Amino acid sequence: MTEPVDLSTRAVDLRELMDDPGCDPATLDRTFRRFALVNAAVSGWRSVWRTHVVPALPPTGRARVLDLGCGGGDLARSLVRWARSDGFDLEVVGVDPDPRAIAAAERQTTAGVTFRTQSSGDLVAAGERFDVVVSNHVLHHLDDAERAAFLRYSAELAVGRSVHSDIRRSVSAYRLYAVGASFVAAGTFIREDGLRSIRRSFTVPELAAALPSGWRAEPASPHRVLAVRD
Ligand SMILES: C[S@@+](CC[C@H](N)C(=O)[O-])C[C@H]1O[C@@H](n2cnc3c(N)ncnc32)[C@H](O)[C@@H]1O
Repeated sequence: MTEPVDLSTRAVDLRELMDDPGCDPATLDRTFRRFALVNAAVSGWRSVWRTHVVPALPPTGRARVLDLGCGGGDLARSLVRWARSDGFDLEVVGVDPDPRAIAAAERQTTAGVTFRTQSSGDLVAAGERFDVVVSNHVLHHLDDAERAAFLRYSAELAVGRSVHSDIRRSVSAYRLYAVGASFVAAGTFIREDGLRSIRRSFTVPELAAALPSGWRAEPASPHRVLAVRD
């Protein structure tokens, strides 16, 4: 059973346990690595790869993709795997400002994927460019100023498209996650932070209103929302 919560507005003041700099490092490490299971179940990136990333890749079939806020790195690894099976030669760079995320990501090496402890601002300052810039479950983490900077840097870093995917807040998403997460959450922050994430996340109209000019909000199913810029 889940406690009744008000999902009518974004719970922007709710902080996630993993965002506490003093949180237990072992629990955080397990959380970053267990994200792979959660993302495989809920993120829908296999379909976003086909509908939003592949059409934005250069005709040569060779491309660089940036995963901003890569966490434990599973999306970066998945993109390279899907690219290989679809005939693309992809190099993916996963960056995260949290060195603890990169430490978890680097436990597993995958050809074509590199991880770096860097911010998007560092990449812009270094003059880096990528064919496509993506992220997963980062938008809801950010306050208004952080989100504005994140999207501005994303647009500067992308030669082509930016696609940022996140949870779409709804009662059904909350209830489903509350039950489903119990099976994979032991020893991690995944259940509590996932529920807080849903409470912090956007509906499609909310995201559309929060995006700067040039960006659009799209529903993706089930329970997902995308911020896209071409
Ligand atoms: C919920 S985790 C998601 C991790 C990973 N993308 C995934 O889907 O498993 C959010 C990540 O965003 C990172 N993050 C926070 N602020 C950021 C920013 N301004 N730019 C990029 N990443 C950020 C955090 O360090 C954290 O690793």
